[in-house]
Amino acid sequence: MSIGVFDTGVGGLSVHRALVERLPQADFIYLGDQKNAPYGGKSGEEVVVLTRAACEYLFEAGAGLVVLACNTASAFALRRLQQTWIPQYRQQIGRAVNVLGIIVPTIEAATGLPWEHEAERRGDKVEKLDVIGIFSTPGTVASRVYEIEIDKRRQDVAVFSEPCPNLARLIENGVERDVLKAEVEKHVGALTRRIGRAPDRAILGCTHYEIIADLFREALAPSIPLIHQPTAVADSLQLYLARHPEYDPGATALRRFVTTGQPGEATPLLTSFWGAPLRFEAT
Ligand code: DGL
Repeated sequence: MSIGVFDTGVGGLSVHRALVERLPQADFIYLGDQKNAPYGGKSGEEVVVLTRAACEYLFEAGAGLVVLACNTASAFALRRLQQTWIPQYRQQIGRAVNVLGIIVPTIEAATGLPWEHEAERRGDKVEKLDVIGIFSTPGTVASRVYEIEIDKRRQDVAVFSEPCPNLARLIENGVERDVLKAEVEKHVGALTRRIGRAPDRAILGCTHYEIIADLFREALAPSIPLIHQPTAVADSLQLYLARHPEYDPGATALRRFVTTGQPGEATPLLTSFWGAPLRFEAT
């Protein structure tokens, strides 16, 4: 079996790179749904339908586990698919399959607490000592998943989210660095003004943004730590595999990159992030 990694486009490669580094012998198939990207402005229902189709493709291509390397898909589709589709799909395909998301490990990293932990609700007002700024797609921001789940665990942390409606598409198209820099500065400025100061920590809550993490670092000031979603996901996948021997990740270091969009070479922005030439095949 292999591990499937899914994103709407090239953003999930930021998570994929960390998974490949962590499990170099494992077999991986990466799928980008570039035909339907971006998902950031789509309805929750559309995201569920498209994510399910992508997972089905990856399972049929031999994946046992699929990692949704997309915050928008994790926010809208993960729970629905795990609860309403996976149980019957397992029976249909006759083997162990599961879908994992990337928001739970990120929240664990941000709060320093395991997912099972819920803070005791105190009636009195709790002082917010730590401000986390999150940059995401409009869909992820609208879901309020980071605000809700962090607040359940850490009432002393305030979360401010900034929607960046155009950024994933610009990264997907591999536009010039100056254009990306201006867009990042605009959103960092907007969030800073809303908080009234710089955040204490930040999360790049859309996997595309990690590809230009250096621009966020520059705009935010290098002293502000970024909670690194790809590392959090790699940690969590490694633990999951150790607990679930029914998911054999393979051992031939298979790397396949598939797209529902135009096959061919990745953009120079992507190639430089990946560190080697990268070619997508058609689904
Ligand atoms: N990379 C995706 C995420 O993490 C979404 C990009 C998009 O399709 O809008 O949310």
